Amino acid sequence: MADNPYRPAEAGRPSGTVGWCVHYFEELESTQRTAAELAACGALNGEVVIAERQTAGRGRMGRRWHSPPGVNFYGTFILRPEMPVAETALLSLVAGVAVAETMELVAPRIVALKWPNDIWLGGRKAGGMIAEAVTDSRHRLVCVLLGIGLNLNLAPEDIPAELRDRATSVMAATGRPCDRVELAGELFSRLESRYMETLSGGFAAVRPVWERYSALTGRQVTVIDGLSRIGGTVRGIGPDGALLLEAEGRVVRVLAGDVSIEGAYD
Ligand code: BTN
Repeated sequence: MADNPYRPAEAGRPSGTVGWCVHYFEELESTQRTAAELAACGALNGEVVIAERQTAGRGRMGRRWHSPPGVNFYGTFILRPEMPVAETALLSLVAGVAVAETMELVAPRIVALKWPNDIWLGGRKAGGMIAEAVTDSRHRLVCVLLGIGLNLNLAPEDIPAELRDRATSVMAATGRPCDRVELAGELFSRLESRYMETLSGGFAAVRPVWERYSALTGRQVTVIDGLSRIGGTVRGIGPDGALLLEAEGRVVRVLAGDVSIEGAYD
C-alpha cells in the first residue's frame, strides 16, 4: 500500500464513524470490489477505500466510470446500518445530500442533484453515487458499499470527447482547482451527520434538503425503463425516494435503479 495522503482527513474521527479509517491505494480495479473484500474480512462501519485511479470503475446500470489518476475522488464507504435491504438504495440519495453540501464549498450556487444519483455543477454531471447492498444467505443485510465518484481537478480538455457536453469537474466549472484531501474530510463529516440523521429519523429527515437541490423538479422529462417510456413533469421525490412524475393528470412513482432520463440536458 502507498503512503496515505488522506491521513489528515481521517484524523480525530472516533472509530466506527464515517471516514475514521482510510484504506488508500494508487490503483485499484474498483474501490467497490476492494471494499467488498475488506467488509468480508470484518471491516467496521465507516471504513473507506480510496483509490488514486481505477482500471474498471463501475457506474450505475453496468456503465464504466471514467477514473483517470491524480485528479478526482474515487471512494467506497463500508456502512453497516440496521435497516431493511429494500431501503438501502435510499443511502445513495442521503449521500447525494452530503456530496451536494460538500461541493457547495468549492463550487457555490451551481450545485444540483439529478435523480437518482447524479451530482451536477452548472447543469453537467460532476459525480455520482452508487449504493450496493451485501446480503447473507438468508437475504439479511450484511453491509452497504456506498461508492462516490467526484470529478474534481479534471481539466476540461481531459474530459473524454463523448462526455464533454454532459460532464464537468470542479476545475472545469469554476476555473479553480480544489484540495482533494480537504474536500474528502468535509465529505466525511457531512456524510456522517446525514447518515446518522437518516438512521434516527428515516429519509424524511434529509428529504427536504434533497428537494432543495433537485435539478429536475418542475421540468418536463422522459423516463425510459426498458422498452417503456413515459413523459411528464417532475414533482419531486416521495418518502421512499421514488421520483414523482405527473403524467396525464396523475402522479406516477418511478422507482430508483432501472430508469434513465431524457430531456435533462435540454
Ligand atoms: C453513477 O453511475 O453515477 C455512479 C458512479 C459511482 C462511481 C464510484 S467511483 C468510486 C466507486 N468505485 C466504483 O467502481 N464506482 C464508484
